[in-house]
Amino acid sequence: MFDLSTLFQGDRPVPVILDGDPGHDDAIAWVLAKASPKLDIRAVTTCAGNQTLEKTTYNARRICTLLGIDAPIAMGLHHPLFSDPITAGNIHGQSGLDGPALPEPAVPLSDLSAVELMAKVLRESEDKVVIIATGPETNVAALLLAHPELKEKIAGISVMGGGIAYGNWTAAAEFNILVDPEAAEAVFGSGLPVQMCGLDVTEKALIFPEDFQRIRAVGNQVSQIVADWLEFFYRFHREIGYAGAPVHDPCAVASLLRPELFTRQAMHVAIETQGEYCRGCTVGDTSGKLGEDNAICCMNVDRQGFADLLAEAVKFYDGREVPV
Ligand code: BDR
Ligand code: CA
Repeated sequence: MFDLSTLFQGDRPVPVILDGDPGHDDAIAWVLAKASPKLDIRAVTTCAGNQTLEKTTYNARRICTLLGIDAPIAMGLHHPLFSDPITAGNIHGQSGLDGPALPEPAVPLSDLSAVELMAKVLRESEDKVVIIATGPETNVAALLLAHPELKEKIAGISVMGGGIAYGNWTAAAEFNILVDPEAAEAVFGSGLPVQMCGLDVTEKALIFPEDFQRIRAVGNQVSQIVADWLEFFYRFHREIGYAGAPVHDPCAVASLLRPELFTRQAMHVAIETQGEYCRGCTVGDTSGKLGEDNAICCMNVDRQGFADLLAEAVKFYDGREVPV
């Protein structure tokens, strides 16, 4: 199975599309993506998930304004492929990004839809493009269904979603996959290289007060906002019994940049799309019973190394060159 992270170990920046539903942890994933010289962000596309599409799109434009991301931004599909939408206002708040004040959008919204913009980026790119999907995979699935001819321009997909061992929204399913299981099935069944960061790893990527205090102490505007987002996330998760804040979405970027921080295992991941109790479950199989390996799954992380990476990345935003 092709290891997507190898692409990021060279000197040439890898073209990427950021597709997500920001969301505190999506936003921090994008902070990391913009800070790294190894990524060339060609487009930002939004999906419905943590909040409605209008809200995640507004948040994406505010985040891109804050971070200086000048790639085109396009709105995705309003609804999952077959299911009714689910939102996560209980975690991310009514805005989808409650907490610190953010600048109003100073970057335009493309006239193209997310699928049209992704297709354009793929057509125009000389190099194959990596898609980093940190929300429900509705847009990515729609792209694959609408433009099968462009699959050859996609190097692979780095996904935050699922959990081999368990779920967080139901006993069996993680939020991003539960929101749109048919889309996830299209992605994992696409034949493209997939790197998956599910709850197995993201719930070990815990951030504690000493981490966000260190990030805040970097002292620039972005570091202070990231610290506030992390503190917001930490407080919510402490209330429901977590030891720290599980910083899910940045794992989908960090595992490409710094694979040595992660324990990874190739397996076949099948998506349960039926069932009263298990819809949205990601079933991992290493025995070959379900088929050939279709994903490299991150299962564990060097927590300290991950926290250090975030603390380094925010230094980029006062003009420092950072080795991320
Ligand atoms: C995922 O769900 C969302 O709330 C987060 O942004 C993350 O992508 C974790 O289950
Ligand atoms: Ca997300």
